[in-house]
Amino acid sequence: MRILFIGDIFGSPGRRIVADHLQDIVKAQGIDLAIANAENSAGGFGVTPAIAEDLFGLGLDVLTSGNHIWDKREIYDYLGRTPRLLRPHNYPPGSPGSGCVIVKQCAILNLQGRTYMPNTDCPFRAADQLLAELAPAVKVRFVDFHAEVTSEKIAMGWYLDGRVSAVIGTHTHVPRTAERRQPSAGIRFRAIEMDDPASRDFTNKASRSGPWRQRRVRSPAKLAAPTSATWRRSLNQATRFAGGV
Ligand SMILES: [Fe+2]
Repeated sequence: MRILFIGDIFGSPGRRIVADHLQDIVKAQGIDLAIANAENSAGGFGVTPAIAEDLFGLGLDVLTSGNHIWDKREIYDYLGRTPRLLRPHNYPPGSPGSGCVIVKQCAILNLQGRTYMPNTDCPFRAADQLLAELAPAVKVRFVDFHAEVTSEKIAMGWYLDGRVSAVIGTHTHVPRTAERRQPSAGIRFRAIEMDDPASRDFTNKASRSGPWRQRRVRSPAKLAAPTSATWRRSLNQATRFAGGV
């Protein structure tokens, strides 16, 4: 399955780009499922029912969102009757809408971080709950993790390693090159940001679980220092990246 993810569509310029290019990209790339984060597609704050309908009409299969989903009050009822528009699932029970939908045999999950973000329930536990409810037949599982800091996104990536197909970070409106293939995918590891070298030491199990354990359990967790080899590798990668700017 080929999935296209667009994040985040910002105001009318963002909507125009989607209108002008989405269908060409879908055709050229053989896209099976098109997802976009639309939390700021209405003038840069929130999304309205009319704009969501327009975006679906342009060919987007699922819209995810984040903290700005609540900015336009008219979206509240719409969220309740439109499963393909998601809001982060870890808002308290009783909030309109849902953070999970299955479209074309793919489960799309929407969660929100807690560092420098509005108070929500634990995204790690919410992920556990959603994944436990999914039928085993739903093998493709895609997560939009809407969070401020890269380290929290990396922690979620480690936490869900082997349990989902992809974890994508949104919210910061800044393209970041922190993509990687997790060890469970059996492919290469790539890290070119320097925020938390310990979290990228995938050879060290304590380093892998420390960042998310600290956030999930809210108690001190032992964080292992990166090995000198890992640190040197990170430095080399960062230097190479900086050299290419
Ligand atoms: Fe956001």
